[in-house]
Amino acid sequence: SGPVRVALLGCGVVGTEVARLLLTDATELAARVGAPLELVGIAVRDVAAPRDPVVDRALLTSDAEGLVRRADVVVEVMGGIEPARSLLLAAIEGGASVVTANKALLGQDGPTLYAAADDAGVDLYFEAAVAGAIPLVRPVRESLAGDRVTRVLGIVNGTTNFVLDRMATDGLELDQAVKEAQALGYAEADPTADVEGHDAAAKAAILASLAFHTRVSVDDVHREGILAVTAQDVALAAETGHVVKLLAVAERVADGVVVRVHPALVPTGHPLASVRGAFNAVFVEAESAGELMFYGRGAGGAPTASAVLGDVVTVARHRVLGGKGPVESSHAALTVHPVAEA
Ligand code: NDP
Ligand code: HSE
Repeated sequence: SGPVRVALLGCGVVGTEVARLLLTDATELAARVGAPLELVGIAVRDVAAPRDPVVDRALLTSDAEGLVRRADVVVEVMGGIEPARSLLLAAIEGGASVVTANKALLGQDGPTLYAAADDAGVDLYFEAAVAGAIPLVRPVRESLAGDRVTRVLGIVNGTTNFVLDRMATDGLELDQAVKEAQALGYAEADPTADVEGHDAAAKAAILASLAFHTRVSVDDVHREGILAVTAQDVALAAETGHVVKLLAVAERVADGVVVRVHPALVPTGHPLASVRGAFNAVFVEAESAGELMFYGRGAGGAPTASAVLGDVVTVARHRVLGGKGPVESSHAALTVHPVAEA
């Protein structure tokens, strides 16, 4: 079968690693898909900016709209709400399959994209949008689709976990630790999204929507970040046998769902206390499955690219061999309660 044409939107921390895997593992990926994956272009803001040598400069373009029209699979790793949202809608309406790592967009306006993908009969995959390399979206969206999830709880932001860890182990102040997280490629383009809890809230909204088959927007999530946490707070917590963690919690309650993100004191003996650096860990509780734990690298270029490529292989395989991923737009509406009412 002919090549599957892949357009990459974004060539930053994640996009560069996606390009690297597409190029260096081309033969293996072609065997897994059943056809070659042809990278037809990479949309960026600044085509003249310095890039990793793995990036073929001839593929760079600032015309993302034109690039989308030339692709069978559109991979969005540019971030932000616009133009990502319009580009993905154009891709879907044009019949392309879509893979995105954009939790901010899905947390705010996922239902619009889910409905568009369902209407067009194309795939929309987003494993990288929650917890980096950890296979979590698919287990919740697909493997647990026959069960009833009751609670999702864990650490879903690598930057804040790294920052709290550096504050605890080396007594660093928050600003200094955030700079390190930025240099390591863990932080969002605007790191206030991490430290103020917006990123974790978007991920919690995505997970809650999938887990409870309803629609939770980031605006429904009670959110408190880590800006008020000082090195002294972290040291005091340690004296009482605790670690400070930014937790995301989504729970089924009597007649609906409650979702929240906030710092919490975790006893040092709890498995979440031993989650270090930019790692994430999430517990999922379901009526029949019982308790499940997911753990791994929650941020960084290569780990995130792994999740993106897994989705690319799946959606490309569907195009070559037939088949389609799950639909989301037919969700029933469960009431989403503000925390105060819960
Ligand atoms: P970066 O800021 O490193 O890269 C963004 C890329 O997108 C850049 O190449 C930039 O171009 C390009 N871009 C941004 N806006 C536009 C635009 N309007 N038109 C064309 N190109 C544009 O971000 P990351 O790689 O860190 O993150 C990308 C996405 O992945 C985000 O949605 C993020 O939330 C998500 N993500 C990131 C993870 C991480 O650990 N970093 C983990 C999981 C998800 P230029 O290079 O010219 O500036
Ligand atoms: N900034 C995010 C984090 C990237 O630190 O978790 C991964 O989604």
